[in-house]
Amino acid sequence: MSEPLWIAVCHRDDVIPDGGACVFYEGIQIAVFRIAARDEWYAVQNRCPHWNEQVLWRGMTGERDGEPKVACPMHKRTFSLRTGAAFAGDTPDLLTFPVRVVADGRVFVGVPSAEVVARERTAATHAPCGRAE
Ligand code: FES
Repeated sequence: MSEPLWIAVCHRDDVIPDGGACVFYEGIQIAVFRIAARDEWYAVQNRCPHWNEQVLWRGMTGERDGEPKVACPMHKRTFSLRTGAAFAGDTPDLLTFPVRVVADGRVFVGVPSAEVVARERTAATHAPCGRAE
């Protein structure tokens, strides 16, 4: 896998402890999370794969067996922030993105290849899974 393109998305003080922020990049939305107690940062697709809603940045963060997680604010499906794995078996996993915070406090997200970005952009415009039409 090639090195991601690192983009500056915000300053660490722009994200409240244990909160999230939403970043737009090349037509996709990325949710960035700051886990204060662990001094860790995570980034995942903002689109919850349950109903295809762009809401994860507003989700509640926490831990499950030591694994940092986010709960979707819509129906509380939970996902690992580290791996993107869904904790409910019938929900697709999330894309994850590496995060770096540099000495001056700027937060960078590593965005993957153009193909991955295009795939997420396409998925965001398709009918959601698990939702009655
Ligand atoms: S839209 Fe996220 S859990 Fe339903």
